[in-house]
Amino acid sequence: MRIGTPLSPGATKVMLLGAGELGKEVIIALQRLGVEVIAVDRYPHAPGHHLAHRWHVIDMTDPKALRAVVELERPHLVVPEIEAIATDELQRIEQDGLARVIPTARATQLTMNREGIRRLVAEELGLPTSRYAFAESVVEVHRAAGAVGYPCVMKPVMSSSGKGQSLLRTSEDVAGAWEYAMSAGRVRRTRVIVEEWIRFDYEITLLTVRAGAEGGEGQTLFCEPVGHVQVKGDYVESWQPQPMTDVALARARDIAKRVTDGLGGRGIFGVELFVQEDRVWFSEVSPRPHDTGMVTMVTQAQSEFELHARAILGLPVSTELLSPGASAVIYGGVDAKGIAYEGLEEALRLPRTEVRLFGKPEAFARRRMGVALAYGPDVAEARQRAKRCAALVRPVSLERVPDPAVP
Ligand SMILES: Nc1ncnc2c1ncn2[C@@H]1O[C@H](COP(=O)(O)OP(=O)(O)OP(=O)(O)O)[C@@H](O)[C@H]1O
Ligand SMILES: [Mg+2]
Repeated sequence: MRIGTPLSPGATKVMLLGAGELGKEVIIALQRLGVEVIAVDRYPHAPGHHLAHRWHVIDMTDPKALRAVVELERPHLVVPEIEAIATDELQRIEQDGLARVIPTARATQLTMNREGIRRLVAEELGLPTSRYAFAESVVEVHRAAGAVGYPCVMKPVMSSSGKGQSLLRTSEDVAGAWEYAMSAGRVRRTRVIVEEWIRFDYEITLLTVRAGAEGGEGQTLFCEPVGHVQVKGDYVESWQPQPMTDVALARARDIAKRVTDGLGGRGIFGVELFVQEDRVWFSEVSPRPHDTGMVTMVTQAQSEFELHARAILGLPVSTELLSPGASAVIYGGVDAKGIAYEGLEEALRLPRTEVRLFGKPEAFARRRMGVALAYGPDVAEARQRAKRCAALVRPVSLERVPDPAVP
């Protein structure tokens, strides 16, 4: 293992596919280790574009465009930050020995499709998940929901951030839910999964790191569990550590270990789990840093982004927790380009509190534009402070309101 000098022939080159707020932090961690970084996203001035040595704008679902940018840049590692990528092409890139895909091309392929990961986790590995069935028409959804039982959740197999998801309370909800899923899936052909509704006490992300030198003996480490609240499929606040019973924690780690062993490669994984007393269900997994894990920027010696950077480079990692803490999302609140943020003096006057503004060029009311982070002796207090801090930051539109028409 060696790291070269950036912008010289011996440089260690890493390409991020997706350069949002999570990619931006991975880039910062890589830059600190003297890695040459190339950031790719579908729109210009994405958060990570601001920090990379070079940046590109392509449609990452287009296999030709993806291949071309990898051939142009010849990175050693390709690090996906989002799901919507031409993963078949990643497979070819890996097979042709063009670059190593993090954690593996197969892992990106299996996890971008809810069907792939369900079949692996529930059917091959035999781990606990909600009951489920797949469907491709209204008639099939009725049949699937009947088999799974109401209430249940319907999700397009290719979607994220809660897009196209509906809760089906009775069979009367099916038609409307189908219409909605059709409009939100990532691909035309709408295949959906119908999942049993789990009445969990709480849900967690178990950040799991597969580290160790490539080819050498691997090592799996777990961060303290991250608890979170989701609204409409998007996380609004998270905290660490989430208290769990010893049995539930042991089960969660066992599930995370087996799922990540099944996916392979090196890097961090966000294993999403539902918990009810001692029972644990696998929900889904991201083979990359997880949005709810932004809290680790103030709670851990090595944040999830530093852990990812180290692990993919084959360097040692530590998941040590330094302090309990919490995160709360700062939303755009307005639909506008080039907005400004007010209230930062008050927000940052709160003790043990930090703000990250992502620098996204365009805001939407429900777009995540930043995050407030707080740490302290206990989670409950840190959550309060993180939420107060986030609420004090006020995004404002700078776009001129047109003058009323002058006669
Ligand atoms: N079967 C279920 N039972 C109970 N709650 C569920 C179920 N499936 C999803 N949810 C709730 O909806 C949230 C989003 O679901 P899921 O993670 O599958 O969606 P997603 O679109 O992949 O979201 P993201 O990309 O933000 O992780 C979960 O975190 C959980 O709160
Ligand atoms: Mg999820």
